[in-house]
Amino acid sequence: MNIVGVSAFYHESTCCLIQDGRLVAAVPEERFTRVKYDRRVPINAFRYCLEAGGHLSPGDIDCIAYYEDPEKKLSRQKAMGLADHDDKDKPERDLRDAFGVDCPFMHFDHHLSHGAGSFYFSGFSEAAVFTVDGVGEWATTIYGAGQSKDEDFIIDKESVPNFLRKTAQLAPEPFRNRVEGDLHPLLSGNLERWRPAEEVLPEGVYTFV
Ligand SMILES: [Fe+2]
Repeated sequence: MNIVGVSAFYHESTCCLIQDGRLVAAVPEERFTRVKYDRRVPINAFRYCLEAGGHLSPGDIDCIAYYEDPEKKLSRQKAMGLADHDDKDKPERDLRDAFGVDCPFMHFDHHLSHGAGSFYFSGFSEAAVFTVDGVGEWATTIYGAGQSKDEDFIIDKESVPNFLRKTAQLAPEPFRNRVEGDLHPLLSGNLERWRPAEEVLPEGVYTFV
């Protein structure tokens, strides 16, 4: 079973190859193009993974696993007025065209990908999982438990309301002013931009009140 994991079109496009459950290659496109943070289709990284897997051809790939949900992400970008296109299928189409694959294309929520990438390679059979990131589709963080089970998805997730504000409040005293200072431009400057999103968020993520 050859699974190619792909992150692309945001920053540091990357491919990895998991072969029969074992990670055999993982490389960002920038290492080939020498373009820092290269966000384009990671075609060179893909070809490297094929070679590392034993001179594979695109037809040997059983699944492309994409690191986020394009439809959910687009819905958030539209709510924020950030969408520069209206085509949720573009990432899949662009990758299929470049890679020459017709295998299944699966996508996974951004934070679940972060959590899985950390948990599966942590060496722990059980672990608390906590991810913090700018934003994925809608969520900015998830927490849950990773358990070694023969299941496809083992990390429960939950979005944390008001996460940034809670982070500022919970930061240790010596860092609190620094955190609040760093967050202030985001909290205030983006408030108007985020306000329309309040009404469409089912779980109350980023409810600035
Ligand atoms: Fe991320």
